[in-house]
Parts: sequence; C-alpha cells; structure tokens
Amino acid sequence: MQDAAGQGIMTGRLADRIVLITGAAGTIGRTVAAAIAQEGGIAIGSDLKGRGAELDLDVTQEDDWRRAVAELDRRHGRLDGLVNSAGIGMLGSVEETDFATWRHMMAVNVDGIFLGCKYAMPLLRRRGGSIVNLSSISGIVAGHNLAAYNASKGAVRLLSKSVALHGARLKPPVRCNSVHPSFVEGDMVDAMLRAVPDPAKAREKMTSDIPLRRFAKPEEVAALTVYLLSDESGFVTGAEFPIDGGLSAR
Ligand SMILES: NC(=O)c1ccc[n+]([C@@H]2O[C@H](COP(=O)([O-])OP(=O)(O)OC[C@H]3O[C@@H](n4cnc5c(N)ncnc54)[C@H](O)[C@@H]3O)[C@@H](O)[C@H]2O)c1
Repeated sequence: MQDAAGQGIMTGRLADRIVLITGAAGTIGRTVAAAIAQEGGIAIGSDLKGRGAELDLDVTQEDDWRRAVAELDRRHGRLDGLVNSAGIGMLGSVEETDFATWRHMMAVNVDGIFLGCKYAMPLLRRRGGSIVNLSSISGIVAGHNLAAYNASKGAVRLLSKSVALHGARLKPPVRCNSVHPSFVEGDMVDAMLRAVPDPAKAREKMTSDIPLRRFAKPEEVAALTVYLLSDESGFVTGAEFPIDGGLSAR
C-alpha cells in the first residue's frame, strides 16, 4: 500500500512478529524481509557467510541451524515465523545432471528446509507460528531440463504438508504452507538465462508459456508470504500456493 507521495504505509499486520528468513540476500528473501518490516514485523535475515545478511546460516549445516536458533532464543526468546527462501536452481535433464549436482541441489533445497522446520519448531511452538517454504511451480509441473530442481521442489511441497499436519497437533499450532512461483524477475532467472546460448530467445519463450505473459515480481511473492505469516491466514495450513500467472491452470 502506498500514500499519495508514493511512500509505503505500515499497516501493522505483522506487528512485533519475529520472523527468520533464509536466503535473505537473494531477490525473494530480501523483498520478503522488506515487506515484513513494512508490516511492523522484525525480519531477521540470514544467508551464507559473506553475503551481508544479519546472521550467517548455511541451511545445509545442522550446526549452523543450532547456532542460529540458540541466538534467536537468546535475543528474543521466541520466533513467530520462518521463511525458508534459500535455494538454488540449475538446468539439466536427467542425463545431463551429474550426481554431485543432484546431491548439492537436494542438500540446499530439501535438507535446508527440513533442517529449518526441525530446528525452528521448538521456538515456533512456544507461542504458535507460521512457516512459509519457497517451493516453485517446478514442484508441481515438470520440465525436461529441470530433473534435480523438479525433484527438490516436489519434495518441499509434500514435506510442507507433513510439517503442517504435525504443527496442527501442537497447542498453540504452528502452520506451514508452500509457495510456488513461476519465474521471478531477479538474480536466479538472470543466472539461468546466462547459462543458455540465446538468453533473449529463452526469455521470450519462457514468457510466452505464461498466460499473463510476464515473469512474477518479487513484491508479488512477498505479498503472498506476508499473508501466510499473518493472522489473516489463521485457518490456512498444509496448502500450496501457485503464483504463476496461470501457468499451471492448463
Ligand atoms: N527466482 C525465481 O524465478 C524462483 C521461482 C520459483 C521459486 N524460486 C525459489 O525461491 C527461493 C528464492 O529464490 P530467489 O529468486 O530469491 O533466488 P536468489 O538466487 O536470488 O537467492 C537465493 C539465496 O539463497 C542463498 N543460498 C544459496 N545456498 C544457500 C545455503 N546453502 N544456505 C543459505 N543460503 C543459501 C543465496 O546466497 C541467495 O542469497 C528459492 O528457493 C528458489 O528456488 C525462485
């Protein structure tokens, strides 16, 4: 929401909520962090060491998670939200993808979210909370050259539902939902396009596959994430949210 001068207006939907974000130096993570702050929340960004986030947290490392959660406990004594946005994307068919690439993709995209949900849960369950996992539309529909990415994002989709069912049994409950964007303007798509022989043609093809004929804006993904973190979505858990310009509708 903006006022007449084009300045953001804080509506306080996340007032005083403490939310940890992984991959917060990335396009979606930093946009989500800004949107949380805009809504009155306290966004604690984390990313790989050297990426300039508030906390150093390699999501594949169990000890990093233990350390980050202990730090949050020391600082705040609670956690109200977790946004698992750290992730990597790479193109490759099943034949082109080497095993090391497959293992690395699974480590970041799947182990990272498993560890996040596992280690943040003891803090989240103290007052109840909300987990938002960044999957992808590639976790719902496949592509011939996305073998490892499809597999990792499909795993996030169903892991999120299992976490939601566990969290629903807690008192107070911890909700968990997955968000499934198609291509989002930003670093990850730029890197993917740099890896193909004709980026302009690839961009045109990728856009033409989308009924709304454009990529998502990171702010659109952030707005959905804020909704899922807020009390407005209090009865929403175990659900998957495509944000894909209609891509998966046909
Ligand atoms: N950008 C898109 O088009 C798109 C589409 C669908 C889903 N997604 C998903 O959304 C999430 C965020 O994407 P993005 O566009 O912000 O990507 P991005 O590449 O801009 O940011 C990803 C961030 O994750 C961090 N990261 C990588 N490995 C890590 C690790 N081991 N530990 C901690 N941090 C690590 C990177 O340093 C980076 O800051 C990802 O999970 C991605 O798969 C992105």
